Amino acid sequence: MNTQTISTLFAGVMVALALIASACAPEQPTPEPEEQAVSPEAQPEPAQIPPAQLDRAREAATALGSELQAALLSALERDGPLGAVEVCAVEAQEISRRHSDEEVVARRTSLLTRNPINDPDPFEAERLQALEDAHARGDLPPEDVELRTEDGERVLRYLRPIVMAEPCLACHGDPGRIDSSVLELIQTEYPEDRAVGYSAGDFRGAVSVRIRLGEALEP
Ligand code: HEC
Repeated sequence: MNTQTISTLFAGVMVALALIASACAPEQPTPEPEEQAVSPEAQPEPAQIPPAQLDRAREAATALGSELQAALLSALERDGPLGAVEVCAVEAQEISRRHSDEEVVARRTSLLTRNPINDPDPFEAERLQALEDAHARGDLPPEDVELRTEDGERVLRYLRPIVMAEPCLACHGDPGRIDSSVLELIQTEYPEDRAVGYSAGDFRGAVSVRIRLGEALEP
């Protein structure tokens, strides 16, 4: 890949990431409680979501997103897409770990993953499907928040949708149009890769934050 292609790609990534960042701006309205999915189990009312914990989830999602974005951009600039694949392969999980501790886990997930470590848990899979359906209706919410009881513990589950942009296709687009050496490296690093074949504007997945809030008050 020549320098022109790389700098065009880089400029594209900047634009797309700016778009993604603005699509995730925190001032966007939180969905009304009545729009929240109702779980069949006895779950706390959405209105009880503690604002400080919701802020914590939003901050974790933003921090993870911006650090990943910075890592991707600097790798693309320095090494081009081929080098960036290697950086992503090592750094993405490391960055995710750095934004997680015993109480808060921040990660990326998708219904079609590249790295199986990012596979959704059952709750995430259900919510990702609902978000994908909402996206297909042109009604994608900026975030999806639910206070739940899991294994006798209260947890806050927070998902911020990720939508594909043009520069992402260098590594997630139609395999026939991905640079052959980039594709080869992806297939070597990720033999179970399912994260190709996307178009710009497709629903890709979400940044997912899970915060443990302590023992449930009721059984
Ligand atoms: C340089 C190649 C490259 C580019 C460009 C790229 N990605 Fe990725 N992407 C990867 C790699 C490699 C992984 C696997 C990271 C890991 O091991 O967790 C990945 C993983 C992901 C994941 C985590 C879920 C999964 O499939 O494992 C999401 C979400 C994602 N990418 C979205 C995007 C978006 C959105 C863009 C555009 C802003 C983008 N990617 C651009 C290479 C790339």
